Amino acid sequence: MTRPRQFPCAASLLACLLACLLAAAAAAQVTAPAGDAATPSIDVAVDRTATIPPAATHHMGREIAQTMHYTGAPWLVRESRQREEDCRLLLEALDIRPGQTVCDMGCGNGFYTLELARMVGPRGRVYAVDIQPEMLRMLADNAAAAGLRNIRPVLGTPIDPRLPAGKIDVALCVDVYHEFSHPEPMLERIRQSLAPTGRLVLAEFRGEDAAVPIKPLHKMTKAQIRAELEPAGFEVVREFDRLPWQHLLFLAAREKPRP
Ligand SMILES: C[S@@+](CC[C@H](N)C(=O)[O-])C[C@H]1O[C@@H](n2cnc3c(N)ncnc32)[C@H](O)[C@@H]1O
Repeated sequence: MTRPRQFPCAASLLACLLACLLAAAAAAQVTAPAGDAATPSIDVAVDRTATIPPAATHHMGREIAQTMHYTGAPWLVRESRQREEDCRLLLEALDIRPGQTVCDMGCGNGFYTLELARMVGPRGRVYAVDIQPEMLRMLADNAAAAGLRNIRPVLGTPIDPRLPAGKIDVALCVDVYHEFSHPEPMLERIRQSLAPTGRLVLAEFRGEDAAVPIKPLHKMTKAQIRAELEPAGFEVVREFDRLPWQHLLFLAAREKPRP
């Protein structure tokens, strides 16, 4: 008589234990105790047969800035960055939600990538794209040290960020767009990568503001951003003007205007 009663009890205990184990295993796939995650492998499968046209020196009247070299990466994680750029406020303004798929375009050594990975959580994913493998290696080491497993480092090319089509909720470019040597193909690929409600978000040092202590080539005005992005099939849908040094513009994909 006791057996039937004991059996369901043991079965539910077992089921409960199994459910807990499965949940823990699922969580462990994306997060692990700090310093305990495997270094994420870098997706380097670029199409070596694609022809990359010579880099442009100017785009729509603007001189294109040189790519920041990876040896300058310590500047991206300088101690004064939070005070100067209020990076925490920038991240808050993005309104990222758990489970989203985001892209840190031109991720450098991953200063923003790691925070984005924490914000999207175990069910989300961050594509961290850069054209310098050295930057991606630093990012991958930093991700492993932080115990983050939901980051996918991707080696892009100057004309192709190699993102999945229609999947990205937020494509963030912090201090990157003005370095694109081929803005038109890059913007087209980013446009294709956005989910229906996805946004491209540009953070650029304010070109209108002489008090922002950044070289003019690495700054942009709002007017210049609009002039370049609108013909590329983007519309500014939100402006966040509370960062100390940067514009933060949110752009949605639109039909491209006919030439
Ligand atoms: C000034 S750093 C900014 C890094 C990072 N976004 C941050 O704020 O810490 C610019 C980065 O953009 C990358 N970059 C430039 N052109 C790119 C392109 N077409 N695709 C992907 N990354 C690019 C550079 O290699 C460099 O790592």
